[in-house]
Amino acid sequence: MRILFVGDVMGNVGQDAIETYLPKLKRRYKPQVTIVNGENATRGRGINQEVYKNFLTAGADVITMGNHTWDNNEIFDFIGDAKKLVRPLNFPAETTPGVGYTILKVNAEKLAVINLQGNVFMGQNLANPFTTVKPVVDELRQQTANIFIDMHAETTSEKEALAWYLDGQVSAVVGTHTHVQTSDNRILPGGTAFLTDVGFTGPYNGILGMTRENVISRFLDQMPTRFNVQEDSPAVLSGCVIDLDGKTGHAKKIQRVLINPDHPYFDD
Ligand SMILES: [Fe+2]
Repeated sequence: MRILFVGDVMGNVGQDAIETYLPKLKRRYKPQVTIVNGENATRGRGINQEVYKNFLTAGADVITMGNHTWDNNEIFDFIGDAKKLVRPLNFPAETTPGVGYTILKVNAEKLAVINLQGNVFMGQNLANPFTTVKPVVDELRQQTANIFIDMHAETTSEKEALAWYLDGQVSAVVGTHTHVQTSDNRILPGGTAFLTDVGFTGPYNGILGMTRENVISRFLDQMPTRFNVQEDSPAVLSGCVIDLDGKTGHAKKIQRVLINPDHPYFDD
């Protein structure tokens, strides 16, 4: 089983990059499952139904989220029916709309996709992602050994610790949120694919996708500024491709995908 995962799609530049490159990447890599993190899709904060549908039309099978899940109020209009949208599992179970994982049929096999949010430097204290996900993984493994986790977190250590904690019990732990792709893609000894952060998809010439002036001015003046997406910029698309043994759930390979003006996409 092959999975294509594309990181944090941000603003119009990111949405356009999905429309342009996702079909091309699907033709090139031929994944059975395509997962897109869409938590920054509308103006950097959240997602609405139109964009959710556009991502599915462009070829995504599942959309994962993160700390900006609720920042676009329009999500409350459709999350109850959005079967392919997964928000962090560790929000309060009783009161949070939507789901924290979903199970896809992939030919004769299944893949579970879980979204988790880290707790370190995230400005929010959700349930412990480690102790929340463990019983869910144990339960899911009764149905399938193929489990993918998008761990939306700030710190390298929290993401790496989760991957080692679940090594051999899930197929992949891939980090999102920091918007910069790391180069530590590897398979842990138990068979779990790991990448600290897949990187983002959006404006290449912003600061993590936000307008440079506003971010720089906050560092200079220490005054609160409203961050907006840097829309006048070429795009970056960041992703990874993971190959699994669909029977054991163990990962065989994880490779990075990066398209930007310094690493242009060439048609085959
Ligand atoms: Fe985030």
